[in-house]
Amino acid sequence: MKRIIATTSVLLLLGGCSWGQNSNIDTKKVSPHQDSNTSGETKQSQVTSKPDLLLESKYFNHIKVVNGQNLIENRSNILALVNKEYSLGAYEPKDLVRPNVNFSFGNQDIEKSYMRKEAAAALEKMFKKAEKDGIILYASSGYRSYKRQKALQDAEIAKVGKEKAVQAVATPGQSEHQTGLAMDITGKSENFLLTENFGKQKEGIWLREHAHEFGFILRYPKEKEKITGYEYEPWHFRYVGTKVASIIYKNNWTLEEYFQEVKKM
Ligand code: DAL
Ligand code: ZN
Repeated sequence: MKRIIATTSVLLLLGGCSWGQNSNIDTKKVSPHQDSNTSGETKQSQVTSKPDLLLESKYFNHIKVVNGQNLIENRSNILALVNKEYSLGAYEPKDLVRPNVNFSFGNQDIEKSYMRKEAAAALEKMFKKAEKDGIILYASSGYRSYKRQKALQDAEIAKVGKEKAVQAVATPGQSEHQTGLAMDITGKSENFLLTENFGKQKEGIWLREHAHEFGFILRYPKEKEKITGYEYEPWHFRYVGTKVASIIYKNNWTLEEYFQEVKKM
């Protein structure tokens, strides 16, 4: 972990955004990617939607507002939208497993080497195909508990002060790593670091072009910082399944944009 925190704000756990600071949201004000009986969706929008952009209600965030925070109720949803607007609370996935892939930290059996079962299987497939194409990938950071996230944020606050820290380190409950569906990936070309330059290396390029075939999306793309709320992270991949990943990839969307476009079935 120490060696990863080597450069500037591009590293692990970045923050600082304007997207989703929708603090005045309540049960009546419903964002398009929120499921609620009060959403007031029209039949018209459903009829005119392309089939690819129809999605079952269970895949939208079901939100409960607690102390002004939007808590996701269906937290094990494979499409859970976790960001600065929607929080997981103290959730822990039930089906975490350790994928059989190379790790940048060797064979240590530690929390960050875990992912949810479905995502882990997809990661294994992706790493194998990459290897066939001559690309050796290394997993660097997967599941991260609420507790670990809190420790990381507290350490950052002690180091740089709260105002700066909250721009750089996700608040506990709001890190996608807590879903068990995200993995930071690196390679030898970038000396196993998580740096912006990874996007220019052969491993980063391969991932950007092929991750969707295995159900992963590049979650924090360049020039989408205002939408995602995070700086460009060429190393952070989120599992959403092949169908949604392909739609997002083809349209050059973020997960936030996908949920703005998609309609409930
Ligand atoms: N690095 C991403 C934004 C996270 O901590 O979830
Ligand atoms: Zn990440």
